[in-house]
Amino acid sequence: MTRVPSALPKNVFYQQICELLEELLGREKNFVANAANTSALLFEHLQDVNWVGFYIAEGSELVLGPFQGKPACVRIPFGEGVCGTAAIERRTVIVPDVHQFPGHIVCDTASKSEIVIPLLNWGKLLGLLDIDSASLNRFDEDDREGLESIVSVFLASQATNDMPDLAAEASVANHRS
Ligand code: SME
Repeated sequence: MTRVPSALPKNVFYQQICELLEELLGREKNFVANAANTSALLFEHLQDVNWVGFYIAEGSELVLGPFQGKPACVRIPFGEGVCGTAAIERRTVIVPDVHQFPGHIVCDTASKSEIVIPLLNWGKLLGLLDIDSASLNRFDEDDREGLESIVSVFLASQATNDMPDLAAEASVANHRS
């Protein structure tokens, strides 16, 4: 696979990662397969990160999904930790220093800063993308913008999963008439 140089300006870097991701996901729709490949691509390319992965929304909690990094906590209730906060507020949360974030959940003691991006598909929360770094203040507004674009590419692969299959419904209707 093509390697994107990390020394590029962040907007160019993320644009190129988005293109690689589009190519990597192709026409595949499977959530687990695409989340696994997205986390692997990001872990491979992002500098100075120690954990990249997905949490999947299930009822009122988040359940660990595909990731790269050390083993992590499996279930996080909505409203708890950085992930639970991003889930409930449905917005990207950047934490420059996790030790200053009340209720932060420690998975890898090396983590010092974190960014969490919610996955919103047709208004429904599917889960989150969570990225940790062992450096303070690792993520800025350019990372937010870039990672939200990455999440949009991932979500495009899921976009039709929750829509009714209009062709199948039309065929059933035709058979009835
Ligand atoms: N730190 C997160 C928990 C998940 S791990 O970082 C992988 C939180 O506070 O929600």
